[in-house]
Amino acid sequence: MKGPFVIAVDGPAASGKGTIATGLGKAFDLPVLDTGLLYRAVGVLTERSGEPLDNAEACAAAAAMLTADQLDDPRLRTREAGELASRVAVHPHVRAALMEFQRIFADQDGGAILDGRDIGTVIWPQAPAKLYVTASPEVRAARRWKQLKAQGEPVALEDVLADIHIRDARDGGRDTAPMRPAPDAVLLDTSEMTIEQAADAARRIVEAARARWEAS
Ligand code: DC
Repeated sequence: MKGPFVIAVDGPAASGKGTIATGLGKAFDLPVLDTGLLYRAVGVLTERSGEPLDNAEACAAAAAMLTADQLDDPRLRTREAGELASRVAVHPHVRAALMEFQRIFADQDGGAILDGRDIGTVIWPQAPAKLYVTASPEVRAARRWKQLKAQGEPVALEDVLADIHIRDARDGGRDTAPMRPAPDAVLLDTSEMTIEQAADAARRIVEAARARWEAS
């Protein structure tokens, strides 16, 4: 029996995957889970507990206690929370503790969209639609800089670019579930695209995947 129509949207920080996932959610009427928020919440909770972020057990304990209502906190969207998230995300026990939450979300009858780093490779490798969204580090830095400014968190563009390089190296270099495209993911480089063009391209890719899934 074929499983639910899950769309995996993976890619590096500020690649546009969140906006694309939200657009796909509207286009296909599917619920969206931003899985980065889970790691952000674990990072913030661990930091607040006073434990160092390299204490894997403390981070895993925070992950085990996480509930969905903790994901609405606007402080999870800050630059600092992104950095904390990337640091706690290297711990295998944190990733294991967050896996069930993500798989339950994916396993909905009507289907679901998850955006993250390892959705197509680890969380739901059987997803009928997989996108890997990228853009050059410079373009991503400029987008994130604009977003942070709009959120009232002004920061120098070169600092945002430095963050992006550090995060790419950490997220792609960790031993457990490193960020990388699934072999069957469609690569979408949004460097030269407007948000509308990227959303449009993603919709067309998913429409084709949906037709294949329906015919299967
Ligand atoms: O997508 P984001 O910027 O909100 O993610 C924050 C960090 O969380 C990211 O740098 C790495 C980690 N993360 C992860 O390891 N796996 C995911 N599925 C999502 C996020």
